[in-house]
Amino acid sequence: MNNETKYIKDIDKLVPRPDIALEVLQMAYDNQVSIPAMALKIEMDPNLTANMLRLANSAYFGHMREITSVKDIIIRLGLETVKIIAITGASAGLMRSPQQAYSLEPGSLWHHSHATAVLSSVIAKYARVEDTGSIYTASLLHDIGKVILNRPLQIAISNNKGLGKKFNSLLELEQYLLGTDHAKTGMALLQKWGLPDNVTLPVGFHHNVNCKEARLLHVKIVSLSNFLVESIGIRSVVPDNFIFNVQEFIDQNQQLPDVPNFQNNMEKIIDEFFCQFNETANLAN
Ligand SMILES: [Fe+2]
Ligand SMILES: [Fe+2]
Repeated sequence: MNNETKYIKDIDKLVPRPDIALEVLQMAYDNQVSIPAMALKIEMDPNLTANMLRLANSAYFGHMREITSVKDIIIRLGLETVKIIAITGASAGLMRSPQQAYSLEPGSLWHHSHATAVLSSVIAKYARVEDTGSIYTASLLHDIGKVILNRPLQIAISNNKGLGKKFNSLLELEQYLLGTDHAKTGMALLQKWGLPDNVTLPVGFHHNVNCKEARLLHVKIVSLSNFLVESIGIRSVVPDNFIFNVQEFIDQNQQLPDVPNFQNNMEKIIDEFFCQFNETANLAN
């Protein structure tokens, strides 16, 4: 058994009702999915249902008449949108808890992941990627490995208090103490759930810019977006007076992954991102 498999074995113990959220995620990726079956499954989890209704009624999805049931969401917004809403609702449930080993307060991992997903979608739209759904999902779940490794990492850190060693990155620390890292562990989990390569590979390689997988556009977009969100320093809602200097960012970061139409549209991309992120930031809380 490799280290990732050892850690993902106990995911079911980490969240209150992971079974429903996870099944909804899997259903969303099944081409043969039956809408009534999916609606029924979602309705088994009241929190997920509430999250989905809140998202569906938000300004972001722009509907005039109130949506009051899961079936309504599916009929009025269409399956592609339902997938996005189901994935968002389910992921929020998995990622809201604090991740102490990573110094992440309650909600922080969710806000970071959600911001990365919104930004990736805008970048993907400018890059004219067809399959934006998998980029959204991969971005939302890119740090899911932190949920799994939080507890073992906490234990390992407290058992190694005298650790005089310096690490250049979080990944090096994880690798040293646990023999794996959150990116690899997240990828192993999503592979176990049966999600496609377009979702699992960007998760597994989002910190790894020098491997052959980093040449895939999906991987480039997710790692670029993760890096940008970290640089912007997003925690929850972006304040109105927030200023992000695009030119300064480009000058300081010459080695960004080359994503089509990104650098020359960066100002527009960041504006669209801020607007969409603020509209949806608190919906799945
Ligand atoms: Fe990460
Ligand atoms: Fe991240």
